[in-house]
Amino acid sequence: MIKINENYQKLSANYLFAEIANRVTDYQKNNPDQKIIKLGIGDVTEPLVPSVIEALHKGVDDMGNRESFYGYGPYEGYEFLRSSIADFDFKKRGININPEEVFISSGAKEDTANFSEVFSQDTKIAITDPVYPVYIDSNVMFGRTGSYQNNHYQNVLYLDCTADNQFKPDLPKEKVDLIYLCFPNNPTGQVATKKDLQMWVNYAHQNKALILFDAAYEAFIQDEELPHSIFEIDGADEVAVEFRSLSKTAGFTGTRLSYTIIPDKVHIYDQEGHSHQLNKIWLRRQSTKFNGVPYIIQKGAAAVFTDKGRSEINQQIQYYLDNAKIIQEGFRSLDIEFTGGDNSPYIWLKTPNSISSWDFFDLLINQCQVVGTPGAGFGRCGEGYFRLSAFGNKNNIREAMERIKKLKIC
Ligand code: MLT
Repeated sequence: MIKINENYQKLSANYLFAEIANRVTDYQKNNPDQKIIKLGIGDVTEPLVPSVIEALHKGVDDMGNRESFYGYGPYEGYEFLRSSIADFDFKKRGININPEEVFISSGAKEDTANFSEVFSQDTKIAITDPVYPVYIDSNVMFGRTGSYQNNHYQNVLYLDCTADNQFKPDLPKEKVDLIYLCFPNNPTGQVATKKDLQMWVNYAHQNKALILFDAAYEAFIQDEELPHSIFEIDGADEVAVEFRSLSKTAGFTGTRLSYTIIPDKVHIYDQEGHSHQLNKIWLRRQSTKFNGVPYIIQKGAAAVFTDKGRSEINQQIQYYLDNAKIIQEGFRSLDIEFTGGDNSPYIWLKTPNSISSWDFFDLLINQCQVVGTPGAGFGRCGEGYFRLSAFGNKNNIREAMERIKKLKIC
């Protein structure tokens, strides 16, 4: 008899954004004439920039000629892209990352999830609450957690992020082995200073722990004092892995390309205490389970790491940040507390009149036809909060906020 991986039975029936999509589809079916404005999942709406389109076309042409045709690519990505990333994202900012430490992949979602399998089963993990659900669900699937009780999985250390600590996690009092951090944060939009990150790097050194740092939203940072990379922090290149993505940076949610930085100095340990270079282990994993991102996509991605491409995508980022301002102004006028939106595309608001997050979701879709993401979907501490994404057409964002302003409850 074929049997299920029992760990899957610990999960909620649907992935958070799949659950929202189902509810929206149901609503649309029952209300076919209503115009729904979707500010739930953070999905880009602006088209790929001209430099990327031109490079993609060039990639297509290359594949149509015997002389420039490519079959299977390198598992870790083409050298041309890995060196552009190392130069443009890191060396230019004074961070010493080499092309060999850059691993090209098809999504930060995939990489953050897949990474959990290279560590021992009894790895003690710490995640923030609220949290991007992929980090926790992937560990549940791997069998690293206990059952789900009172909105928390057993055997996981949750780091509460509430208004009391400005949605920034405090150091754990106990020892953990693996820490997931995301800044600018999804879902709260909160940012980390160099001092904040130094505290975590020091903790990782003291405890021989590893930090998985999700920097998928770094391109939205406007404040020049804020670090874009954990590798701006002293000692981080021995205790951290960084995930970056072109999804939100360059509108690649449908095109798919991400990159993970694993410095040579990062090591993990076997039962006898011998150390192993993590990037070699990751390559072993990728070469077994992954055949690389298509050449054409990597060609297109390389345009992002040029001055011309970057100036084009910066305009898009500004467009979304202007949307975030419209949302912020709307909630300010309603006297609703929120964080995020200055250096991130997400606005994290306190639901009015302490209504539960899923009730607020229902209220918004039923009365305003606006879709957002209930904070409770990101964890216990997200209850009473709600996330709106600034990705969208500006006129739709304006209209969404006008509709919300007319809501009686606000
Ligand atoms: C989000 O809205 O949090 C992300 O876009 C969802 C994802 O990357 O899966």
